[in-house]
Amino acid sequence: MTVKDKNILIGITGGIAAYKICELIRMFKKNGANVKTVVTKNALEFVTPLTLQTLSQEAVYTEQFVTEDRKPEHIALCDWADIFVIAPASANTIGKIANGICDNLLTSLACAYQKQIIFAPAMNTGMWNNKAVRQNISFLKSTGAVFVEPESGYLACGTEGKGRLADINSIYEAAYNCISNNEFLKGKKIVITAGGTKENFDPVRYIGNYSSGKMGTALADRAFEAGADVCLIKTFPLERSYSTIDVQSAAQMLDAVKQEFADADILIMTAAVADYRPEKTADLKLKKDTTEELVLKLVKNPDILSEMCKIKKEGQTVIGFCAESNNLLEYAKQKIQKKNCDYIIANDISRKDTGFSSDYNEVFILDRDLNIKKLEKDTKNNIAKKILESIWQKPAI
Ligand code: PMT
Repeated sequence: MTVKDKNILIGITGGIAAYKICELIRMFKKNGANVKTVVTKNALEFVTPLTLQTLSQEAVYTEQFVTEDRKPEHIALCDWADIFVIAPASANTIGKIANGICDNLLTSLACAYQKQIIFAPAMNTGMWNNKAVRQNISFLKSTGAVFVEPESGYLACGTEGKGRLADINSIYEAAYNCISNNEFLKGKKIVITAGGTKENFDPVRYIGNYSSGKMGTALADRAFEAGADVCLIKTFPLERSYSTIDVQSAAQMLDAVKQEFADADILIMTAAVADYRPEKTADLKLKKDTTEELVLKLVKNPDILSEMCKIKKEGQTVIGFCAESNNLLEYAKQKIQKKNCDYIIANDISRKDTGFSSDYNEVFILDRDLNIKKLEKDTKNNIAKKILESIWQKPAI
């Protein structure tokens, strides 16, 4: 993977380090990337549009409301860019982006941009240590933004301390890594199940559970970003640009998984599949005046995960989840062996702040040798990213 033919958007904010970005543009261009620059008004105090235009061989974007092709620039540039590097990133711009403020083209772009943003901050040491700035940076990190930390040393304001723009090579490398990492699932078909199954006992009533589908959707979204051919089999309404299949019961989910897993490389069973279903489903709505008691007989559902592990071919990877309210790791170890899958992602569903329906999760990844890796509490988006990266990018555990 190289940066050749990749579209790099560089955002430049007001700071003396802005002049160093000329060298960054040259590096990207030398390695075959397309570069466009978006600059704040303050940045233009330090570097001229003519310099940036000459180096990038592209127009320099400054105004929010001027459009060449009638498409709002912040949308057109977002579509175009494979990565957005903000360097130098001032405390002011970091603060605005962390708080969703869009008062110029650069901050509007950052707000609308759905792919990876890299910040290379540069500022005075006092500003770097300021509590509000620290909070803004840690919030942006929690959303998945990458920060190339500033260096310590002599600063342009005449003091010594942390705040000097990171070496240009480090910023280039961070962008290069994100671009290569971005597509680490390219060429792989991944099937993911999400949501709780619904098992009807009459046409309008069912036995279900509290799974919202957030964890499975986060995995599918991140896998799609990583270049995978994604098929999300789900029990809830959701529009996506990748392939999705709607199912309701465990039996329907089994059929869809069987069909899609046949030519897939990876299956992740995030869905909360009902272990039991009513033995009979009434054709008509059950009437409450016909009986004082309603006794439902439940029969076992097929175990989709175990079934897929039985027919799994060489080269296919199957990952199960394990939802427990006690003895989490003990049960997870038993499950990976009993169901015979390659990995189990274990989460504690007794907690209110993670697991079912929450936007957050904390998980353990177990492999077949029972190595365990803990992913500390984080947003489901970040946990999904870390699960995929842990298994496919780096030595697993
Ligand atoms: O959807 P959210 O609100 O975001 O919540 C996420 C989650 C808590 C549902 C998710 O993180 C999770 O833990 N999913 C697995 C839920 C579950 O059914 O766990 P289990 O331990 O009962 O089952 C173990 C594995 O077997 C799971 O991969 C499950 O999909 C699979 N299974 C279970 C029963 C069955 N009949 N067939 C199966 O394939």
